[in-house]
Amino acid sequence: MKKAKITVLGSYNTDITVNVPHLPADGETVIGTGMAFNPGGKGSNQAVAAHRAGADVTFIAKVGCDGMEKTGFDLYEKIGMPTDNVIRDKTISTGIATIEVDNKTAQNRIVVIPGANMKITAKDVRDREDLIAGSDILLIQLETSRESIIEAVNIAKSHGVKVVLNPAPFSDVVFDIIKDVDLITPNETEAELISPHNGNFQLSATDMIGMGCKHVIVTLGKQGSYYKGGLGEFVVPAMEVKAVDTTGAGDAYNGALCTALAEGKKMRGAMEFACAFASLAVTKPGAASSMPTRKETLEFLKK
Ligand code: RIB
Repeated sequence: MKKAKITVLGSYNTDITVNVPHLPADGETVIGTGMAFNPGGKGSNQAVAAHRAGADVTFIAKVGCDGMEKTGFDLYEKIGMPTDNVIRDKTISTGIATIEVDNKTAQNRIVVIPGANMKITAKDVRDREDLIAGSDILLIQLETSRESIIEAVNIAKSHGVKVVLNPAPFSDVVFDIIKDVDLITPNETEAELISPHNGNFQLSATDMIGMGCKHVIVTLGKQGSYYKGGLGEFVVPAMEVKAVDTTGAGDAYNGALCTALAEGKKMRGAMEFACAFASLAVTKPGAASSMPTRKETLEFLKK
């Protein structure tokens, strides 16, 4: 089988995760039950997911030299993911996210302080044109600077490289690039922000196709994922698992999905693989550190 080659342009954040008996209401103080520093950031989580799923990954990112980046580098070293294109800049802070995870529902709330992620320049991306050009897929999210995203998409298109956009967190840069995107993967909230239809994500997906994107996958959490596009319209159901932390579930899905597609799997099969991968990821705490291996995912799929 062909080995997938994926470039991820995206964020790195150190996640400061606290576990709580319930998510606090406005003005409420809640006593937490645990705290951890975890490697996170949507870009990094997706790069790690693709690497663990079996792809050759180039990860283009920027971090500070303030010690907060160490959590990420420790994980990359442990799993053998190359870091040549994670740029270190002494003048800025590493991205940080504060995350509250509900012990009962495994749902979370996240606040991101982007720091270095917003300082990735168009030149940083241009300097890596050959790496993007040599990839099967460019995978991007919206947690880095606008100029870095636009430059990466333009480079990918000029070399005929497929672009997968996970529009998280939502930003209006989506509307600038969607016509050049092959596959967009919003969750229900992001689908509604891109094209409001009172929660009718099928209609939002139709609009995204109208905006020029070829394929749309709306991730639906426990309900699985919904496809609309040139291959028709279908739902791939999720697997039932005991979730402990859903942080990075969408990232797990995107990294695994791109790996399977770049290996040549058909859309439905790639979505099944991604669903299984993400289902396993939510059974462990943390974001990047909870990503399963390819072997674990294939065994889980057989059950
Ligand atoms: O998608 C989850 C991620 O969102 C977290 O790791 C956090 O860093 C934010 O980027």
